[in-house]
Amino acid sequence: MSTAHVEQARNGLTGSIQVPGDKSISHRAVMFGAIAEGKTTVDGFLAGEDCLSTIDCFRKLGVTIEQEGEKVTIEGKGWDGLQEPEEILDVGNSGTTTRLMLGILATRPFHSVIIGDDSIAKRPMGRVTEPLREMGSIIDGRGNGRFTPLSIRGGQTKGIQFQSKVASAQVKSAILLAGLQSEGVTSVTEPALSRDHTERMLTAYGVEVKRDGLTVSVKGGQTLTAQDITVPGDISSAAFFLVAAVIVPNSHITLKGVGINPTRSGIIDVLQEMGASISVHNEQVVGGEPIADLDIKTSTLKGIEIGGDLIPRLIDEIPVIAVLATQAEGKTVIRDAEELKVKETNRIDTVVSELKKLGATIEATEDGMIIEGRTALKAATVSSYGDHRIGMAMGVAGLIAEGRMTIERSEAIAVSYPTFFEHIDELLGGK
Ligand code: S3P
Repeated sequence: MSTAHVEQARNGLTGSIQVPGDKSISHRAVMFGAIAEGKTTVDGFLAGEDCLSTIDCFRKLGVTIEQEGEKVTIEGKGWDGLQEPEEILDVGNSGTTTRLMLGILATRPFHSVIIGDDSIAKRPMGRVTEPLREMGSIIDGRGNGRFTPLSIRGGQTKGIQFQSKVASAQVKSAILLAGLQSEGVTSVTEPALSRDHTERMLTAYGVEVKRDGLTVSVKGGQTLTAQDITVPGDISSAAFFLVAAVIVPNSHITLKGVGINPTRSGIIDVLQEMGASISVHNEQVVGGEPIADLDIKTSTLKGIEIGGDLIPRLIDEIPVIAVLATQAEGKTVIRDAEELKVKETNRIDTVVSELKKLGATIEATEDGMIIEGRTALKAATVSSYGDHRIGMAMGVAGLIAEGRMTIERSEAIAVSYPTFFEHIDELLGGK
């Protein structure tokens, strides 16, 4: 385990960076390439630990995958090219790998065992294993198949019309992937729209996907054709620097080539509503995903209310939004965000406890948190608790907190942003 230190910034953040590739899209590019027919290439791949876990699992399923930094080549041999793994499939810390891979394995006529780290072992898998069992695959595991380790034997499955209780792209994607090789039509209806990268990328791989409001459906018996995928910058990684630039005095930065898919861009809406000076330039569509350069400066902020359908559009950004809210005048209320409790950590608890150590006025609620600003934060020793986004949110807080911040278990940051501290140094140096 490692420890990182962050000093209060003496000058503003300036210059421009390209944030690493989108985690959600990188996972999907590899998985869909693995089940497609032909050679898929991926450029801009996020070589973070989570996505490397996906590569490792699909290699164990018999797929030849070459990866060098941001470039990946996948030799897809179609659905039937996947083979029974001789080893256990270890997903590490990655919920996306676990749930989407379950959807793929649900229709494969062989047996696999999935394990992950201590955090994965606490995360609810019943939301995926129950509908997959209903479709006909045989799944067992701890807590009657609700937690890892899980074992799955796929086979002949039937389409279902699934009503999800949560707005979760991982659940939606798992069921749709199983639906592609099941009898009849499979549909998923969610309570609010979650990120739609699966729908967009499956379409790029030649699959017919139908959307009708909050319901998305696929017909069984569909195959995928290899693609050349370019992964946009991850807006969830960009969020740390968007917030840092707004709250560190005298900052002005540009983040290049960031994915601004409307199902992910809630952070931009929140920054604008709080009064931040942010502008969007060079909008383009790359491989079915909108991207842009984001320009942002130090700004005066006011507290706002964040809830409802906005939550799935910024769920991963809430830890750093809480840091932002400590620097806004007045009250910020985050509600309808119970899903935070089942992320890499219980993010309501970890955000509130660590920000309190810095002197923030913040209280947990049943479904979110209330933050009262503006507060001058003081550096302290905090922990990531093994959660990458908590570690990075603390890194951003460290830039404005008086003194020297110590972040324990900082190694977790490599899950999604291995060059996070280098990028902080680069922007502080104004290169
Ligand atoms: C993801 C979906 C979200 C998100 C996670 C990545 C994905 O989780 O929090 O970081 O790639 O589909 P849920 O689908 O469980 O909300």
